[in-house]
Amino acid sequence: MLVLGIESSCDETAAAVVRDGREMLSSVISSQIDIHKEWGGVVPELASREHLIKIDPIVEEALEKANVSLQDIDAIAVTQGPGLVGSLLVGVCYAKALAFGLDVPIIGVNHIEGHFFSVEFDNLPTEYPAMALIVSGGHTNLFYAPEKGKYKIVSRTRDDAAGEAFDKVSKMLGLGYPGGPIIEKYAKEGNPKAIKFPIAKISDGRPDFSFSGLKTAVMRYLRENEVEPVKEGREPSQHIKDICASFQYTVVLALTRTMEKQAKEYNPKTLIVAGGVACNQALREASEKIGERLNLPVYFPSKHLSTDNAAMIAAAGNFHLERGERSDLDITADVTMRLQNIELEDADLRKKKVRYRL
Ligand code: KG4
Ligand code: ZN
Repeated sequence: MLVLGIESSCDETAAAVVRDGREMLSSVISSQIDIHKEWGGVVPELASREHLIKIDPIVEEALEKANVSLQDIDAIAVTQGPGLVGSLLVGVCYAKALAFGLDVPIIGVNHIEGHFFSVEFDNLPTEYPAMALIVSGGHTNLFYAPEKGKYKIVSRTRDDAAGEAFDKVSKMLGLGYPGGPIIEKYAKEGNPKAIKFPIAKISDGRPDFSFSGLKTAVMRYLRENEVEPVKEGREPSQHIKDICASFQYTVVLALTRTMEKQAKEYNPKTLIVAGGVACNQALREASEKIGERLNLPVYFPSKHLSTDNAAMIAAAGNFHLERGERSDLDITADVTMRLQNIELEDADLRKKKVRYRL
């Protein structure tokens, strides 16, 4: 089955052609970073306008690169949510019109489920039960999936997403947007143990994440130590590089500590780390170490598939289409779309006694 995937939930306009959910014939991404970096973050109105301009040429390019025509497409998979409403609407309306015109099925895909499927291209068929850390600028959740298509959130962020923390700290340091890759670059030249930043403990004892306190701790550190933001075009000082390294070390530790604890509890067969922050080498290395300690394979998407893309949406769509699922032509953007959060018998899932419920 040849699926055309379309993604426009945030600031990437993307289209891809995928055969049978695993063979990527093309994947084209148009990033809006240059438009938004001037503002230090995504401006929703600018994002939707840009999607509108880019969507048609990007789909054309994806078809051309895959060497197929619209008539060869068997179905369309489009990101339905979560995301920015204006951005989502561009993709959803475009996909609906195309599906109607071509008389092919359409399936609305949850963007987060797409990230789950981003590992399918570069790895062996993923064994389930799986545990997945989906970590990007918009979301930071740890899922347990007893089988493909069934998901339970076991840890979530209470405030900022991890990628958002990278972006905000980068802004404070005068390093630009998006923060993740820039902080990672300077962290490599800094000492991760130079400054001890705190890892938030959730007062109700749930194994959730929280990054807003860390962001405030960095802000306070900068003020108390009179650290000036880096001037544009200047090389950061060693002190700034140490701050980058110490901040990154703390984020990675907060993420992987919880992932390891939950993996011991839920006993999955595979660990998945996906989403924009999964590009981060320190996070990859720390996750690999968990895999070694627990004797589990750890799957990452290639870097191209870590950030938002349409191939993962086509792959997730293919899975649902194969199960006979279809969306109606009246689907619309679902800004807060949730992944089916199944209620499972805890006794089936856990080796240990249940201490909390989500
Ligand atoms: O998945 P994505 O493209 O979009 C969202 O759905 O948010 O992720 C973008 C986020 C940004 O916050 C960016 O700073 C972060 O991923 N990111 C990184 C790295 N590359 C991108 N964070 C840490 N290290 C990186 N190398
Ligand atoms: Zn994403």
